[in-house]
Amino acid sequence: MENKNSETLVQNQEWLDSTIERLRKANVVLPTFSQLRNPSTIPPEVLRMFHEVPTDIAHPLNLFRLHWYNDLRTGGLREVPEYTVLPTSLTGVAAPIVVLFGDTFPMISAHKVLPAYACLVPRLVAGQFDPSRHRAVWPSTGNYCRGGVAISKILNCRGVAVLPEGMSKERFDWLDQWVIDKSDVIKTPGTESNVKEIYDKCAELRADARNVIFNQFAEFGNYLAHYLVTGAAVEKVFSDLRGDNPDLRLAAFVSTTGSAGTIAAGDYLKDRCGSKIAAAEPVECPTLLRNGYGEHNIQGIGDKHIPYIHNVMNLDFVVGVSDKSSDALNVLFNTDTGRDFLSKHKDVDSRYFDSALGRFGLSSNANVLAAIKLAKHQKLGADDVLVTIATDGADMYKTERQKTVSSEYGGQFDQLDAAEVFGCHLTGQGSGEVDELSLKDRERIFNLGYYTWVEQQGVTLEDFAARKKQDFWYQLSDLQSVWDQQIRQVNVAARDLQPEAVE
Ligand SMILES: Cc1ncc(COP(=O)(O)O)c(C=O)c1O
Repeated sequence: MENKNSETLVQNQEWLDSTIERLRKANVVLPTFSQLRNPSTIPPEVLRMFHEVPTDIAHPLNLFRLHWYNDLRTGGLREVPEYTVLPTSLTGVAAPIVVLFGDTFPMISAHKVLPAYACLVPRLVAGQFDPSRHRAVWPSTGNYCRGGVAISKILNCRGVAVLPEGMSKERFDWLDQWVIDKSDVIKTPGTESNVKEIYDKCAELRADARNVIFNQFAEFGNYLAHYLVTGAAVEKVFSDLRGDNPDLRLAAFVSTTGSAGTIAAGDYLKDRCGSKIAAAEPVECPTLLRNGYGEHNIQGIGDKHIPYIHNVMNLDFVVGVSDKSSDALNVLFNTDTGRDFLSKHKDVDSRYFDSALGRFGLSSNANVLAAIKLAKHQKLGADDVLVTIATDGADMYKTERQKTVSSEYGGQFDQLDAAEVFGCHLTGQGSGEVDELSLKDRERIFNLGYYTWVEQQGVTLEDFAARKKQDFWYQLSDLQSVWDQQIRQVNVAARDLQPEAVE
């Protein structure tokens, strides 16, 4: 949705009435953005039911788990999101690198289920999507379509996943189990970097009025969810850390970009803590670094385009990371040989494997590597905190691991290989391919978006250019109160309650 004003209009009262009926029947209450941002405000009666509902099923209550505060052990809420501070013996840099765990999100064990909800709910409560009449189409380069399919299932409507054929087998296996109809998994040509092919397929699907496309690359719900929910969660983690050491400062938020939703947390943190924002991308497809193109295997990271919701004029650094390194860490962190090497020679506590390193997927590895490179480039010290996200866990990439072992290590990963991965791909990362952006660099990146959005996708020049000013992005936060108000009204209507009963 390219014009933010159109996000709040009630499009069709009949569709809205039918949606309310569907929510009533399916016993769905929709959480507000404010509740997801601050889960302690979730009504106690909902919290009390948490222990009855497993996190991995399509249950309406799991919508109230679309935030960073889930306690995987108890099923309840944590006071502070789960995070780890990587040991310097692993990173080779003094700056603390802090990682929040995305596998704490329900149903898909990955954080992309949050933006899926955030793209859908504004349309749902504005009569722009009716689950009994429409199919929700989820164009994706990774987990977003899984999140979308999970939420569609809760609403008992068709959810269509559109994703590149080159994604991991585990993703397709998961989708096969969750979609209502097997034809709802649509494979587009290529891999991560083939986003244009995804757009083309969506244009085709749009011709059928029953299909509603939730284009995460252009929906401001994606931006706002991460600005408000992820941004506030990182702030909470940082204040937790500062409780032990008040000298700490938040140096930067580091994130690879797919739809560029997650990196919106960087905007929030810059506003609140004065931190910098670093986007990471594969050197094999250096779009931000040098308008480049190419294939890569950092799954979840879309490329060769600038997402409409990426506030690139607020970006401070771009960090290039090789997929060779993220693939190699997938092997080092998740094989007996790799783990044996790390505990024997690098003093890594064996409990740390399952509790942290085994919970890093490919883009999580890339995030960590980008943080290491940035720490070196900026010569950061022990008080300079870098925060990033483990977007999903290593479980999604078992078959990718086998492929790496056979293509790079002749089918057998031994101790020498482990030492080489550690030295070359982890602590040996240099500070090359790190760009500190000037105004001119930002304008170059901003202008690159013109070709996708104005020339190919038909956005007006006026709407496109409005995003150059920071005021545009500040004002987006106003949408939260409007959307929350609409969500509350729909909840009230669906439950035949008096307005004051739902807060
Ligand atoms: C595994 C993984 N990592 C990273 C990302 C990128 O996150 P974002 O789309 O918020 O930029 C995605 C997006 O789908 C993903 O699936």
